[in-house]
Amino acid sequence: MRVAGHSTHPSWAGLLTIGLAGLGYVGAVDLDVEDADSIKKAAKDIATNMMTYYTGMNPGDNPGNLPDPYYWWEAGAMFNVLVDYWFYTGDDTYNDITMQGLLWQAGDNAAFMPNNQSKTEGNDDQAFWGFAAMSAAERNFPNPPDGKPQWLEMAQAVFNTQAPRWDPSTCGGGLRWQIFTWNNGYNYKNTISTGGFFNLASRLAKYTGNQTYSDWAEKAWDWISDVGFMTEDYHFWDGASDLTDCKEMNKIEWTYNNGVFLLGAANMYNVTEDPKWKERVQKILDSSEIFFAKTPQNVMYERACETVNTCMVDQRSFKGYLSRWMAATTQMAPFTFDQIMPKLKASAQAAAKTCTGGALGTTCGLKWTDQQWDHTKDFGQQMAALEVVQANLITRVAPPVTSDNGGTSKGNPNAGGTVPEPKPKALSYKITTADRAGAGILTVMMMATLGGSCGWLIWD
Ligand SMILES: *[C@@H]1O[C@H](CO)[C@@H](O)[C@H](O)[C@H]1NC(C)=O
Ligand SMILES: *[C@@H]1O[C@H](CO)[C@@H](O)[C@H](O)[C@H]1NC(C)=O
Ligand SMILES: *[C@@H]1O[C@H](CO)[C@@H](O)[C@H](O)[C@H]1NC(C)=O
Repeated sequence: MRVAGHSTHPSWAGLLTIGLAGLGYVGAVDLDVEDADSIKKAAKDIATNMMTYYTGMNPGDNPGNLPDPYYWWEAGAMFNVLVDYWFYTGDDTYNDITMQGLLWQAGDNAAFMPNNQSKTEGNDDQAFWGFAAMSAAERNFPNPPDGKPQWLEMAQAVFNTQAPRWDPSTCGGGLRWQIFTWNNGYNYKNTISTGGFFNLASRLAKYTGNQTYSDWAEKAWDWISDVGFMTEDYHFWDGASDLTDCKEMNKIEWTYNNGVFLLGAANMYNVTEDPKWKERVQKILDSSEIFFAKTPQNVMYERACETVNTCMVDQRSFKGYLSRWMAATTQMAPFTFDQIMPKLKASAQAAAKTCTGGALGTTCGLKWTDQQWDHTKDFGQQMAALEVVQANLITRVAPPVTSDNGGTSKGNPNAGGTVPEPKPKALSYKITTADRAGAGILTVMMMATLGGSCGWLIWD
């Protein structure tokens, strides 16, 4: 397990800091959230900085991987941000890199289960790559060449590999955090894994009109509620061990759990127009109020860790996903618009004020509520700032396409099923402690809170 921090790799930006510091260069990201050109310029500045972390396109490097300490899933998150970045701003600078990374990691069965990740890949990690492919389909991102897996097909492949993992043998159902038995966290059932599946199923339902996806979304929703990971007032706990039948829950609340269910529910509302889904969207939105500060008003913060300075690598990016999915929700459930936009505006404005660090004055801080740079740099927090800033362009772009309304991505309802999942091979090497610590998206999964946010204990 690692403590969050800075990349230990010298980057050109880091070296530039030294070079330009002596010249007294001071930059900043200017943002006026009412002005499209200003938003685009700010997004470009922040994205340029973010992409200094990514080296996957270099000869000899692996497309789709970020350097240490960033786990594989976070690169999947990055490609979703880049799909949105292109769609929101029209800037196609990163389209080739995005195409290359997504195709490379999609692997033989198009389901984002490359052998290299079998020591760490969880259902949630896989889902974040699936989201990127789904967004590419929804936004008509340029399609991969013929003969290569297609965006919709990839999202379906992720769904098709996850549905059979639905596991009623404990806790009445749900998805386990981990895919593979040998990874730490296999006994943990959690909200983000089940939520990722729910989110993807609901969007596939919208895109394809196939009832099977809606049925699974209903099932995932019912379970998260029945098991108690979602409370009666729509707060989302993190998860629980299935060794105690999910009775002892880890009651930590993360922004992205609300976000992943919010957009899924919005899609289900859009598909069904059932008032029950409208109410659910509204209730999740209301429960998400806890993630927004009173002062500065409406600015998002990760209350579980920012307030106690314990945000670890993965967690530094989470606010970005709630921002991303709130923006998307305004399109699928337009009745949320008035409640969501003031939050996206205030949060983006505050986030941009933290982006004054580094040589170029575009390195963003972790805590948007600070409204100034905190002298840290991190890929995930840079990405989160980009998400919330570009999310403000949502009012100027078209809603997602579907297969019978403008969508061009080709699907394959049976995708993902033809190639066996990696298994015995991965067992042929020894799983080290470091591998285990690296497993999956949420290192905090191995921890549970003790009556509050200060006491941490290591699970195993
Ligand atoms: C897996 O790792 C090998 C060795 O580093 C590399 O050649 C290959 O491209 C990697 N595969 C993926 C999908 O990243
Ligand atoms: C579904 O989404 C479309 C596209 O954004 C939107 O026009 C429509 O109003 C939505 N339907 C509902 C019931 O909100
Ligand atoms: C709907 O999706 C399911 C699950 O992937 C698939 O088995 C079925 O063939 C699909 N139906 C159609 C009409 O595409």
